[in-house]
Amino acid sequence: MAQVPPRRRRRALAGASGGAASSAPPSARFPGVAIFLAEPRMGRSRRAFLTRLALSKGFSVLDIFSPEVTHVVMEHTSAAEAAAWQERHAASAAPGWTCPTLLDVSWFTESMAAGQPVPVEQRHHLQEVLEHGACEEVEQVRRSERYRAMKLFTQMFGVGVKTADRWYQEGLRTLDDLRTRPQRLTQQQQAGLQHHRDLAIPVQQQEAQALQRLVEAAVGQALPGATVTLTGGFRRGKLQGHDVDLLLTHPQEGREAGLLPRVLTLLQRQGLLLYQLYQRSHLGDAAHRARRSHTIDLFERSFCIFRLPLPPETAVGGAQGLWRAVRVDLVVSPISQFPFALLGWTGSKHFERELRRFSRKEKGLRLSSHALSDPEQERSFPAVSEEDIFRHLGLEYLPPEQRNA
Ligand code: CTP
Ligand code: MN
Ligand code: MN
Repeated sequence: MAQVPPRRRRRALAGASGGAASSAPPSARFPGVAIFLAEPRMGRSRRAFLTRLALSKGFSVLDIFSPEVTHVVMEHTSAAEAAAWQERHAASAAPGWTCPTLLDVSWFTESMAAGQPVPVEQRHHLQEVLEHGACEEVEQVRRSERYRAMKLFTQMFGVGVKTADRWYQEGLRTLDDLRTRPQRLTQQQQAGLQHHRDLAIPVQQQEAQALQRLVEAAVGQALPGATVTLTGGFRRGKLQGHDVDLLLTHPQEGREAGLLPRVLTLLQRQGLLLYQLYQRSHLGDAAHRARRSHTIDLFERSFCIFRLPLPPETAVGGAQGLWRAVRVDLVVSPISQFPFALLGWTGSKHFERELRRFSRKEKGLRLSSHALSDPEQERSFPAVSEEDIFRHLGLEYLPPEQRNA
């Protein structure tokens, strides 16, 4: 370190009023070594102790930071804190000043043990730790930023992992970022974005029941005798869910054909639908069957956002016309496949995966939301209930409440 003009030296030392080391003259014993113990994590008493220890061994310890300091020692200091410390001092320093090497307390303790300053080695350099640490922290922030964005995006209606990842790569992070470019969103995603606040609020059991009644009314009007069964998490007894899953069928095979479009028209007319995405049945579609993924079923369905009127008692001050948006999945199964559809749509997803794996690995059978079949003999096992399916698999029946795994 360059020679410091006497005037500056005096000022630096004079500023250290009341400190234990303020009166300590620069050590004659180890010229060229002036230690500064940076306090942030060290604590006052620990700092005072280390100062006394160093002074007793003939080291020079400066109580305030000044250009004379040759060795800055830090303890338990995070990369961010150390970097901030360095920046603060660089900002207030004279032009051309370079911060002395920041050292880990290990250099200090080794020097005390040796009774003299030990040569500074790479491992003592806090900067090494800093650069590495800074990268780690930046990396951590980046990871958590990605995690937050991915979580936000994948929870949106109509957004899967692939889309969420693409958006993240394009620099999008928030819902406001998405709002700035609505033309790049699908209609489904636009609807999800528009109703995001409501859809982020869990659906309550009572709301699920109210929705089921609304759908039942429309179904009864569209096709007398057709039924509506609550599936998904609510059938498993969950008190809240992200949506309401309803399975439609008719006791007479084939009568369910054309039911869903009629139901949707009726719901639309009542003003109960904010959005719906219709998907026709692929049950009779051999080409589609061949290229489909084995985990996605072929049933006719509609992914909806309902406009659920709120019961009058929840309306503050008796206000009328209040409503909230709720996600609803409507699925139609022919009665011959109903037990498989019911089992498949009751979940949980994890339970379904395990059950299908068990069928395949232990029984050599393929279980889907359509059938339980023997792939070699191309034979399907008939079932009129979920109990039948469990029996075919040689398993004890598990009621929906026990499928929350
Ligand atoms: N399911 C399916 N095919 C889909 C979507 C869902 O077979 N394309 C089935 C899954 O097996 C799942 C069940 O339908 O277990 C319900 O799906 P979902 O509504 O996503 O999950 P829930 O268990 O109802 O949980 P949540 O409360 O979050 O809605
Ligand atoms: Mn659900
Ligand atoms: Mn669902």
